[in-house]
Parts: sequence; C-alpha cells; structure tokens
Amino acid sequence: MSKLNCQIFLSGNGSNLKNIIQKVDSGFLQNIHIHTVITDNPGAEGLRYAHERNISTKIISDVYGYEDISLDIKKYNIDLIVLAGFMKILPKYFVEHHDGKIINLHPSLLPKHRGLDTHKRVIQSGDSLHGASVHFVTEKLDEGPVFIQGVIEVKESDTVSSLKKSVHNIEYQILPIAMRWFSEQLIEKNGKYFNFRGVLEKEPIRYL
Ligand code: GRF
Repeated sequence: MSKLNCQIFLSGNGSNLKNIIQKVDSGFLQNIHIHTVITDNPGAEGLRYAHERNISTKIISDVYGYEDISLDIKKYNIDLIVLAGFMKILPKYFVEHHDGKIINLHPSLLPKHRGLDTHKRVIQSGDSLHGASVHFVTEKLDEGPVFIQGVIEVKESDTVSSLKKSVHNIEYQILPIAMRWFSEQLIEKNGKYFNFRGVLEKEPIRYL
C-alpha cells in the first residue's frame, strides 16, 4: 500500500505534530508520510520537531501564499492536509479547491464552543463533558462534518490549564486515529456528513 502524503499546518507549540511523528515511528501511522509542515508563524515552536526530522517546512508569507501551497499540493500529490493548532482561517477558494482533503483538530465537542478560548467557555457554561473533535474543513469556521471526538468528564476542580492538558491528551489519541483512517481509506467526506467504511454517518464516532 502506498503511503498517504500529508501536510501538517500549525501555528504554535506543535505538540500534536510531535505526537504524530512519534506515532509514525511506533508504526501506528506506518502508512503516513509527513511531506511538509506549514506555518503562518515563523517563530512557531513546533517547527523544531520538523527540523529535527528533516521534514521540509514552509512559512506562509507574501512570497509563499495559498496559491503556491495549492501548486505544491498538486506537484507533490498531497493526499491530506491536517490543521493541528493552525490559528488562521484558510481562504474560501483554498478550502473549496481541496474539499474533502482538509481536516482540523478543534479543542471542544463541536458544535459546542466553536472558535477560541474553549476551555474557559466550558467552565463558564458549567458543561459536564468536554473534549476534542476532528472535522472536515469547510468555508465556515469549525463547521464541517465532525467524524471523530474524544470525550472527557469535567470535574468541579478543573481549571483552564487542567482542561487544556486533558484535552491535549485526548487529541493525542484521536488525531492519529483520524489520520490512520485516511491512510486505510476508511473515511471520506460526503456533503454535510461523512462515509465510514463506505456507510453514510451523520454523527461523529466518539471515544470516551
Ligand atoms: C490544540 O489544542 C488544538 O486543538 C488547537 O490548538 C492546540 C494546538 O496544540 N487548535 P499544539 O500546538 O499541537 O500543542
């Protein structure tokens, strides 16, 4: 089986990239090839994980924009674009052009708490459950079909930082599972929903 060729987009720490690299090494993601890491932030800490592994990196700028990324996606046969802590909104034409190929990791149980500061909003809302979602990217922020979620229970003693840690831990499980599903051709976008093993699904698969 040929490997799934991936680009990873990030803006900050890149702990999810680090985790994906570990999962490639451990064999869990043996059919994943990380072709490029792309960032909007030249100072992104996460770039060091790419540099350590000689994974090529690109910085989005006036000289390397989304049209250039699209050309590279075609040139290098990129199969999957993973937004793992990428804090910019992608242009509409880019999302439309690569429909079904872009997935985003979001730190909440979508459709709850789209956008920023999800942990704070979970505490303010008194939610009893929290977690992370992976969804197909569409032109509306955090709105495309969600196909996998990891769920955690919120305790009374939880703070923004404890939730952030627990959600990261669940992200380290669900994002590699999502990517593995792509590498095994188990999942595809189907309009507002998704197919899993060829069957139309309307609700995300949840891990507790
Ligand atoms: C993650 O919580 C992700 O859900 C959110 O940004 C964070 C990125 O973390 N979109 P890291 O950069 O991978 O450590």
